[in-house]
Amino acid sequence: MPEDRELPMQNELSALSGFTKIYAETNPPWDIGKPQPPFVAVADQVVSPVLDAGCGTGGTSIFFAARGEQVTGIDFVEEAIRRARARAHEHGLAVEFLVKDAMTLRDWDKSFASVIDSGLFHVYAGDERKRYVQGLARVLRRGGRLFLYSFNDDPAWPGGGVSRQELCDAFSEGWEVESLELAGGEVNPAFEAEFSGMLTNKKMWFAIIRRKE
Ligand SMILES: C[S@@+](CC[C@H](N)C(=O)[O-])C[C@H]1O[C@@H](n2cnc3c(N)ncnc32)[C@H](O)[C@@H]1O
Repeated sequence: MPEDRELPMQNELSALSGFTKIYAETNPPWDIGKPQPPFVAVADQVVSPVLDAGCGTGGTSIFFAARGEQVTGIDFVEEAIRRARARAHEHGLAVEFLVKDAMTLRDWDKSFASVIDSGLFHVYAGDERKRYVQGLARVLRRGGRLFLYSFNDDPAWPGGGVSRQELCDAFSEGWEVESLELAGGEVNPAFEAEFSGMLTNKKMWFAIIRRKE
C-alpha cells in the first residue's frame, strides 16, 4: 500500500472520508469476496434475521444469503454498498444492502437474531466503541449472538489493535463472551505481501458473544 494512504483506523472521530477514499481508489486489502474463514466454520450458528455491520462489498452477507438466511448489510460508504448490490444481483440473491452509519444503530427500530462484525468493531475506540456496542445491544435480540472478527493487539497492526481485556471489557455488561480465540484469515491477493503473514499467523480475534436474556 502506498505510504500516503493509511488505513482509517480507531481514534479518528470520523473515518468516513478515509474509507470512502480507499473504496474510490481500489479493492481494499480486506475485500476477498467471501467471508473470513472463522465465519464459515460457525455458519450453522448464524440464524436469521442477520445483520452484517460494516459489510463492505458484501461477500459475507452474500455467503449467508446463499445459505438461505435473511440478511441486511450496512456500510456507510456508498461505493461499497453499490458494489455489494451489484454482487448480490450477479448471484441472483435478495440481500438488503443499506448505506447506514453504524453509529446510528442505537436509534434503529430493526431487530436481528445474529450480527456479523467482520472488521468493524476494531475501527472504534473510546466513546465511539461504547456507542457502537450500545447500538448492537439495541438491534440484537436477547439471546442473539454477535460473531466478531477483529484485529488483536499485535503492535504491527496499523492504528493499533484490541487486547483481550479491552474486548471483554466492551462486552462486560449484558453480554456473555462465549468464545474468544486467535484466528487466521485471508487477504486480497494484491496486498498479500503486506498482510498475509499477519492473517495466516493467527493475529486476529474471533469471538462469539451472546446478548444475555
Ligand atoms: C475492515 S472493513 C471490512 C469490510 C467487510 N466486513 C469485510 O469483511 O470485507 C470495515 C468496513 O466497515 C465500514 N465502516 C467503518 N465505519 C463504519 C460506520 N461507522 N458505519 C458503517 N460502516 C462503517 C467501512 O466502510 C468498511 O467497509
